[in-house]
Amino acid sequence: MATSTTVQAFFDDKTWTVSYVIADTASRCAAIVDPVLDFDFKSGRTATQQADRLIAHVREQGLTVQWILETHAHADHLSSARYLQQQLGGRIAIGEHITQVQATFKKLFNLERGFLPDGTQFDHLFQDGEVFHIGETPAQALLVPGHTPADMAYVVDGAVFVGDTLFMPDVGTARADFPGGDARALYASVQRILALPPETRVFVCHDYPPAGRAPAWESTVAQQRAANIHVRNGISEAQFVQMRQARDATLDVPTLILPSIQVNIRAGQVPPPEDDGVSYLKIPLNVIGAGRA
Ligand SMILES: [Fe+2]
Repeated sequence: MATSTTVQAFFDDKTWTVSYVIADTASRCAAIVDPVLDFDFKSGRTATQQADRLIAHVREQGLTVQWILETHAHADHLSSARYLQQQLGGRIAIGEHITQVQATFKKLFNLERGFLPDGTQFDHLFQDGEVFHIGETPAQALLVPGHTPADMAYVVDGAVFVGDTLFMPDVGTARADFPGGDARALYASVQRILALPPETRVFVCHDYPPAGRAPAWESTVAQQRAANIHVRNGISEAQFVQMRQARDATLDVPTLILPSIQVNIRAGQVPPPEDDGVSYLKIPLNVIGAGRA
């Protein structure tokens, strides 16, 4: 029997993030991709407005959430994976190399001894090429490192959810200068995505539209090959790496990197409360930025 899925996108205009609900039409089973937890840095307050939009959609459509998929440990928004799991169920999954990211940031934040960089905060760790199912629809996890060492893309029913590898063709690609990031690896990962059939729908995790264009998140492999400003056909690895490294050297540290990473390497869980019952996030002084991260 031919499988069919629907994809619903949810754009968060505070962090320019796109989350998705993928639903298998026959079984009404679903996967959520890269959900956002609202965070006001000024007050240190979290909120669930974005996540509640996803929950409303899931309930309206009568979907059963099987998976909450993270493409990577995001540095620009907090994940609402844990909150969504409490509300809807499903297994929180990410790529197996998250352990490397956890080890890096456990050290950087001097996290508590009880935080183990072993991936056990997640319900499932995907290996490269692993096949899983959303209802009756087969899906595949692809390792696409470069932006971070642990990025995954998810291929589902003629679509690929690329996380922070490719952006829309007029925006290009993600930065590759975070700890463990690598422009050469990102180029190879992008080639892997662009080797999918040309009609494959490409769904990105962010859009930073140029002036005059509304936010958008869907293109195709063919469109990316023809027009991506960083990696269209004919751009060599050497050209890409030179461009990416020069551009990354000009980019500011993301506003929410410190709070995001501390929550996202715990699968969307805030740090354990201290003896007053309050959870705290750390701000390491003079550690990241200024060419050090
Ligand atoms: Fe990212």
